[in-house]
Formats: sequence, C-alpha cells, structure tokens
Amino acid sequence: MKVLVKNIGILTGLGHEGKLCLCGAEMNELNTIEDAYLYVIDGRFESYGPMQELPKLPADVEVVDAEGGAVLPSWCDSHTHIVFASSREHEFVDKIKGLSYEEIARNGGGILNSADRLHETSEDELYRQAMRRVDEVIRKGTGCVEIKSGYGLNTEDELKMLRVIRRIRETTKLKVVATFLGAHAVSRGYIGRQSEYVGLVINEMIPAVGQEKLADFVDVFCDKGFFTTEETARILEAAAAYGMRPKIHAEELASSGGVAVGVKYGALSVDHLESMTEETIETLKGSSTMPTALPGTSFFLNMPFALGRKIIDAGLPLVLASDYNPGSTPSGDMKFIVSLGCIKMRLMPAEAINAATLNGACAMGLSEEYGSITKGKVANFFITEPIPSIDFVPYAYTTPIVRRAFLQGEEYK
Ligand code: NIG
Ligand code: FE
Repeated sequence: MKVLVKNIGILTGLGHEGKLCLCGAEMNELNTIEDAYLYVIDGRFESYGPMQELPKLPADVEVVDAEGGAVLPSWCDSHTHIVFASSREHEFVDKIKGLSYEEIARNGGGILNSADRLHETSEDELYRQAMRRVDEVIRKGTGCVEIKSGYGLNTEDELKMLRVIRRIRETTKLKVVATFLGAHAVSRGYIGRQSEYVGLVINEMIPAVGQEKLADFVDVFCDKGFFTTEETARILEAAAAYGMRPKIHAEELASSGGVAVGVKYGALSVDHLESMTEETIETLKGSSTMPTALPGTSFFLNMPFALGRKIIDAGLPLVLASDYNPGSTPSGDMKFIVSLGCIKMRLMPAEAINAATLNGACAMGLSEEYGSITKGKVANFFITEPIPSIDFVPYAYTTPIVRRAFLQGEEYK
C-alpha cells in the first residue's frame, strides 16, 4: 500500500540515520522541513521533501491532505502501567488531604489496592478496560508503548496481566513491549516476609513468565520501603537467564542506589529519578543505560522533577515517558509530558520531543525501527491541526492538536 501525505505545514523528527539515541547537545536537533510531503510504502517511510520537489507518483497511491498541519513521528512511551483494574481517585483525595504516597502505601492502599482489584477482574474485562486507555493514547499520538505487569503480585495474576499485554500487541497496530514487574510491592499474603516474596518472584514467577515468553524486560521497584539493591540484583540475575533485560524503577522516593544497580546489570533504562542527585549523573556516564524522567508523576504527586536539564548538559541521553498508572499518574498524554519537560525541567521543545520519540524508542530497544521519520522505519506518525511552529506543541499544553494518527502507515479510526 502506498500513501502520500501532502500539504504538510511542518514536517519534523526527520533523519538521524544510524543513530539509536540522541545524547547531550544532539537532543536539540529536530530536523524540520516546511511545506512538505511524506511518502509511505507498505507501512514504512519511503521518502519526504519539499512540496515543490514532489516526485511523480504511481496511480495507485492513496493521497492524504494534511491541510497545512504538522507531521511528527508518533510518541514512544517507554514506561507505562496501562493494564490495571479500576481507577483510584479516592487516594487522590487522600493526597489532597495531605497523606504522602508512602503513607498511602503503608496504610495498605496504593499498589496493593490495585492488586486486589486486579485479582477479582477477569482477563477479558482487564483487556476491555486497558483497550479504552490504549485507544485514547493512540488518538493522542502514541505509536509505541511499554506496558508493565506488577499489579498481580502472585504468579497467576502476573501471567494474567502479561497475557492481556500480549493480546493488546496482537489486536492493535500499536507497537507494544512487555515488562515483568513482579517485584512492584510485597503482596498482602507476604507482608513481613519480604525475602520469601523475593524467592517467589525468582523461583516461580520468572521461570513461568520466561517459559511462556511473555516479557521482553524485567523491572523492580528498587527504592526505600520497597525492594533493596541486593534483592534487585538477585531478581535481575534470575531474569537474565530468560533473556529479560532490566528497565527499573529507581531513585523515586530516595537516592538509594537503584541507578548504580541498574547500570551494573546493564539496564536499558533507569526510570523515575525524582530523588536523583549529581552523583546519579556520574554513575550514568559511560554506561548504555538511558535515564528516564516521568514528569507526570512529579506533577501529580507534587514531587521534585528529575534533573533533566543537568542530564542533557552532562552529555547524556534523556528519555521522557508517561508512567500512566492508576496511582501516581493517571494519564498517558505524551504531549502534556513534553510540556512538563519544557516547563518544569527547562528542556527546549526540540529536546523534549526527541526525548519522547527517538530516545523513548531507544529505551524500549526499538529505535532501529521507530522513533523518527527516517527512510525504512515503521510509518507511525500523526498529523496535527495547523500550528504556527513546533514550539507551539509544548506551549499549548492542553490544546488537543492531534487530528489524525497513523500506525504502520494506516490511519487509526
Ligand atoms: O511508577 N513507583 C512505583 N510504581 C508506580 C506507581 C504504582 C501505583 O501507585 O499504582 C509508578 O509510579
Ligand atoms: Fe512506573
């Protein structure tokens, strides 16, 4: 199938051939052409250029008129918990009253509350609820997404979540990668017996997930009050035997060594970093681990923002992701995440957009095929309303600018 998108006001996120991610000053390079066309063959980008240079195209091409709107590569959201049962707005109200995230978790709320709801929800119902959120984020321009388990907290329910993630991958054109997060919290039945719970994760959950090949990555909530660096190391080692590379929750609640253990075990990314320090930056230097900021979480929980500006100024790559989940970020709106990156972390719009596209793809191991408008990559992109400049994208922080979303070269309807 051949698709020509014509009359593009601003075509951006181009090129970066051969680059798996952008580091430091490169992050401010967002290659752009005005008054452009984009040509897609069989779901992959074929060519692009100025409208005056539009080549003669075959008769069987489907023509899409962008009517002066901008075209961007789809958002690549490398950290979500989009599969969950029921919202948790009552905890939102508790937070307004002054309870902290840790206090809510200690009172048996938080993740354990979601695990209770998930346990009583069937796989079909879980899929149905997740698909409503998937539909929403696709319409907002997301084209690649990482989804974690971690609200099961026993083998059967973790497998149920991962099968729902697999079903989302099989039934949509969205690119989906799956992460096993059995060590998200100690389940109710194991409270006071954390080391036994870690044993369950290592000896029962990981082999079951590995045998069914349900996860690409492994995650651990390595933080104060959750799992220690030593427990994290053991879990990462066990998962490595099944080919699951780490992508871990680190330095959200405290600067407690999560980044160092992630780097040591070759994590693809270390995510959150709200409590990171300058030392975290030193630990990351020279590693292949992508620092991932989740500014929606900082916003929703009134926490400090990761030091995104300093990460880029240190020459490192930065990733922005949503963390879409029922407790700390009930939103998968990547445009808003990009705005928060600019407003709260002092990122330039180009840096924030690259952090949420090419670098997001890299943090899922997908950047050879996704994350930019580059010849040969999968044609995931969106067309916006006509906008005056790319800076308008983060500036107009609640304006729903996405008009048409395309996955694998096909319009999502
Ligand atoms: O990434 N920090 C750990 N886990 C999730 C929150 C989970 C929840 O509250 O349901 C997060 O923010
Ligand atoms: Fe998370």
